[in-house]
Amino acid sequence: MIAPSMLAADFARLADEAAAVAGSPGEGADWLHIDVMDAHFVPNLTFGLPVVEALLKATSVPLDCHLMIDDPDRWAVGYAEAGAYNVTVHAEAARDPVGLAKDLRAAGARAGLSVKPGTPLEPYLETLRHYDTLLVMSVEPGFGGQSFMPEVLDKVRSVRRMVDTGHLRLLVEIDGGINADTIEAAAEAGVDCFVAGSAVYGASDPARAVRALRERARGASPHRSWTA
Ligand code: DX5
Ligand code: ZN
Repeated sequence: MIAPSMLAADFARLADEAAAVAGSPGEGADWLHIDVMDAHFVPNLTFGLPVVEALLKATSVPLDCHLMIDDPDRWAVGYAEAGAYNVTVHAEAARDPVGLAKDLRAAGARAGLSVKPGTPLEPYLETLRHYDTLLVMSVEPGFGGQSFMPEVLDKVRSVRRMVDTGHLRLLVEIDGGINADTIEAAAEAGVDCFVAGSAVYGASDPARAVRALRERARGASPHRSWTA
């Protein structure tokens, strides 16, 4: 699955930018990745719930909301109630991640947990039983256009093993520095869903960039669960 990040889109034309990657089913973007930043959890400020609500009306592509915010226990459920498909909170910011996952699911969304590059997975293995997606950050969160950190693929490999052996049931997402040069290594490690900002919206033809990324990932992936 490919999830273009609207962080790299033209903020004055978000509906058009969503349409530019929507495509037909199986060809266009699977999800649209929406980076919500609060200038506290990360040193950058983007958009919040009102913009997400407007986008939900403007596109039928499922929204994958990545909340880089303090106090997600207070704010995340609003995104699920609004209709976001997947709502991801940061493990470093959530006070009660298990309770939060339950609330997100009860509000009708999938629940996602994200870890920064330096955050180990081990303390969260029990917590992850309550989540539908794990978003492994492959750059420090806050900005697009940074270089991919290949060392995070160890976390991808270990969670992939746990999913393949039935110890966890979730979709593995990667975010940061994904492009034509890095997506194959991530696919080989076992990623299911690839977030890409500058590699999609920095391209002259974003829809074509989505197709090209998917082809590369498909060629390198030993896992086929996401091809359906
Ligand atoms: C960074 C964001 C990413 C960002 C990725 O904090 O979470 O989603 O948009 O951008 P690229 O693909 O340019 O690294
Ligand atoms: Zn993101």
